[in-house]
Amino acid sequence: MNKGWYIRPFERKDLPDVVKVNKSCLPENYPNQFFLGLYHHAPKAFLVGIDNDKLAGYIMCRIERGVSSFGIMPVKKGHIVSVAVMDIHRRKGIGYALIRKGMAAMSEYGVSEYFLEVRKSNNAAIGVYEKLGFSIKRVLKGYYRDGEDAYLMARKSIKDEPIESE
Ligand SMILES: CC(C)(COP(=O)(O)OP(=O)(O)OC[C@H]1O[C@@H](n2cnc3c(N)ncnc32)[C@H](O)[C@@H]1OP(=O)(O)O)[C@@H](O)C(=O)NCCC(=O)NCCS
Repeated sequence: MNKGWYIRPFERKDLPDVVKVNKSCLPENYPNQFFLGLYHHAPKAFLVGIDNDKLAGYIMCRIERGVSSFGIMPVKKGHIVSVAVMDIHRRKGIGYALIRKGMAAMSEYGVSEYFLEVRKSNNAAIGVYEKLGFSIKRVLKGYYRDGEDAYLMARKSIKDEPIESE
């Protein structure tokens, strides 16, 4: 079925629209160089959602090394740095698809798990992450500038799981 939307890799020309979505959806905003830096760092894991020819959402990620959320060993892990879908394009599955495809892309860089921080009050995002198999690992006290706590959520790699169709 044609859903009217699809996911594709970020291109430089998308930057103004991605910045617009970020500003309108999240209080965590960044200079242009931050977005481009992540793009150069892990281009396969910077994706955008296009809905009826409009840029509706994005995901950008960073490949990091650190202690596993599932043990004590140092591992390569994929960090979902930012994901957002413009409000008028929500509840169509775009956020889910962006994250799922972002996870598949991070696995191509050899990560064994993924993690992210999310505001404790952000039920929509927590809902998507739980649907994608993430679970809460820790509370990060006062993580955000305004003092709100974050949940650190993590999930093991989807590497050996079948890729879902869009
Ligand atoms: C989180 C966000 C990206 C979800 O995008 P989306 O395209 O609307 O999500 P989807 O349509 O793919 O939803 C997938 C599932 O997530 C859950 N979900 C999504 N929005 C939800 C909400 N408002 N309340 C509860 N569950 C929600 C549902 O299980 C949903 O499946 P369903 O529609 O079949 O019930 C979007 O709400 C957003 O951009 N929010 C502001 C930015 C943000 O919070 N980013 C995350 C920071 S960590």
